[in-house]
Amino acid sequence: MNSQLIDFTIMGDERGSLIALEEHHNVPFDIKRVFYIYGTQEGVPRGQHAHYKTKQLLVAISGSCKVTLDDGKTAITHILNKPNIGLFQDALIWGKMHDFSQDCVLLVFADTYYDDSDYIRDYDKFLEVIK
Ligand code: TYD
Repeated sequence: MNSQLIDFTIMGDERGSLIALEEHHNVPFDIKRVFYIYGTQEGVPRGQHAHYKTKQLLVAISGSCKVTLDDGKTAITHILNKPNIGLFQDALIWGKMHDFSQDCVLLVFADTYYDDSDYIRDYDKFLEVIK
């Protein structure tokens, strides 16, 4: 798996910081949907699925969490703890978000509208699909 981390330009001045995300510029796809995960209970993982088509970009805009991406051969765990770092999760990559800090707000951009049939929730099924 190639490095999936994207470094966003911080536009800072004496007032503070600002980051702008634009489709096909620093977000590598059409943005159809944005959701955010927050208030995650301690020790609770989220995700644990892959998508047939959906690509996602994950940004911990507050606090921290870990995201493990798995292509069926290699699993790499990334720590997201900076609002200027995005993690790209391609289609057909198994993703698990875990070790959320209490203050974590994980912002997720996706290139599809929500569609339950795009989910692969069973890991063995995932391995079959990517064969
Ligand atoms: P779920 O996929 O279980 O979240 P995660 O993968 O982060 O653990 O989603 C939780 C609920 O929210 C589930 O009922 C589906 C719904 N949902 C939407 O309606 N739209 C969305 O864009 C997402 C991501 C989830």
